[in-house]
Amino acid sequence: MSTIILAIESSCDDTSAAIMKDASLVSLGVSSQKMHEIYGGVVPELASRAHQQEIVPIVDFVLKEAKLRPSDIDAVAFTQGPGLLGSLLVGTSFSKGFALANDIPLITVNHMEAHILAHMIEEPRPNFPFICLTVSGGHTQLVLVKSPMDMEVLGETLDDAAGEAFDKTGKMMGLPYPAGPIIDKLAQDGKPVFTFPTPNVGPYEFSFSGLKTSIRNFLINNLKDNPDFVDQNKEDICCSVQNAIVTILLDKLAYAVEQYDIKDVAIAGGVSANSDLRSGLRKLCKEKGWTAHIPAFKYCTDNAAMIAMAGHYKFLAKDFTDQKVTPNPRLKIKQT
Ligand code: KG4
Ligand code: ZN
Repeated sequence: MSTIILAIESSCDDTSAAIMKDASLVSLGVSSQKMHEIYGGVVPELASRAHQQEIVPIVDFVLKEAKLRPSDIDAVAFTQGPGLLGSLLVGTSFSKGFALANDIPLITVNHMEAHILAHMIEEPRPNFPFICLTVSGGHTQLVLVKSPMDMEVLGETLDDAAGEAFDKTGKMMGLPYPAGPIIDKLAQDGKPVFTFPTPNVGPYEFSFSGLKTSIRNFLINNLKDNPDFVDQNKEDICCSVQNAIVTILLDKLAYAVEQYDIKDVAIAGGVSANSDLRSGLRKLCKEKGWTAHIPAFKYCTDNAAMIAMAGHYKFLAKDFTDQKVTPNPRLKIKQT
């Protein structure tokens, strides 16, 4: 008999629900909050209120699309963390209520593990062990994935995340939030004519705060001489910044893959939608004889399909939680 899982994602500014039948995705709904744009970043209080409004309609949507009733669901998986507390609380409370009302098991999912397990939704799936570079608005991690439920964080960022480096650069340039996709688009028409320093940190660690400061100083110095500097050079600035960030990411990833003698290499998280990172990884893997795993765009940014995938593995392991569970904004990948 097959198992049907309802999955809920509400960790940041996307409210998402998905239905998975065994390991097959049946339905996915994502509602992305646009109101944060004018504030230059996610406003937590607004995010949690929007989740409250969106969560019931989005669950209703996936149930209808899957032609299922609540009583057909066998388990609920939800994002326990990491993320914004108020946002996580909405998904956690909804999931607890749904599980209680339908007398079904409840499964907690780590958002960072789920970004990686997004690779298991569709073919071609990576072979274990593989190394994944998870790059999002809040995190940058190099993870050795030994099996779906056994992951080791090799290193992470000491300060800003890769997505933050894009978003903060965009803010300094007067671009709307989130600036990552806009910088990516502008960069396609530019050249990497400006250079920025490479951080000097451990081999598996990342640091983007020095880069941010050097970009700020670079912009201030040039704007002093020419107030239209950003407007006149935005494509080249975006291309140079993107090149700097992507080079740092790919160098660290390549080093880790060589050290661990791994053949399957993956990227995940919102920044894995970046065109230079995607093409750079493809090129690197071709040169080294590795297999590159690049997620479909819809599975790069936050979505409940990846939560359902993680939930599927935990269901098989009978790894359930109870009604006392609370969200954990700083949830870490469990070290083995
Ligand atoms: O994983 P995600 O949807 O949310 C978090 O869990 O943080 O990632 C969002 C981040 C934002 O910082 C956004 O600017 C970045 O992903 N992003 C991109 C691109 N698309 C989204 N960064 C660079 N290039 C892109 N094409
Ligand atoms: Zn995410």
